[in-house]
Amino acid sequence: MSNLEQTLSIIKPDAVERNLENEIKEMFKSKGFSILKEKKIQIEKSEAEKFYKVHETKPFYNDLCAYLSSGPIVVMVLEKDNAVLGNRELMGATNPEDAEEGTIRKKYGISIDKNSVHGSDSVENAKIEIDFFFKD
Ligand code: CMP
Repeated sequence: MSNLEQTLSIIKPDAVERNLENEIKEMFKSKGFSILKEKKIQIEKSEAEKFYKVHETKPFYNDLCAYLSSGPIVVMVLEKDNAVLGNRELMGATNPEDAEEGTIRKKYGISIDKNSVHGSDSVENAKIEIDFFFKD
């Protein structure tokens, strides 16, 4: 049975800065994801703080929000069957050092902070994150 889902993906500043946008989009497309919406933007630190609010008690929260707002990012709505899990598998482990071969973070990630991509971690959060960037 099909289980079409949408998830939010962000190509982070380290990857946009290295012109990896097209390569990363090709990795999504080659795994069968459709890119339904996309925009390149730079956000304020205050917006990053809202986006990452679930992490507000973590020691890395301030640096994380400073980083996400430090340069242009590409935000995308991806769609395919089981897109949330499929995106997490394609991204690989949060820390590129732990990521499997063939994953985006293994290929392009520099560090746990500069790990090139973000993806929603659940269907529920995907809805919230898609609304955050694309609600008009
Ligand atoms: P992301 O999937 O965007 O979600 C939160 C981000 O926090 C994560 O990717 C990492 O880039 C960053 N981060 C920094 N330090 C840590 C850590 N110790 N554990 C988890 N995430 C971290």
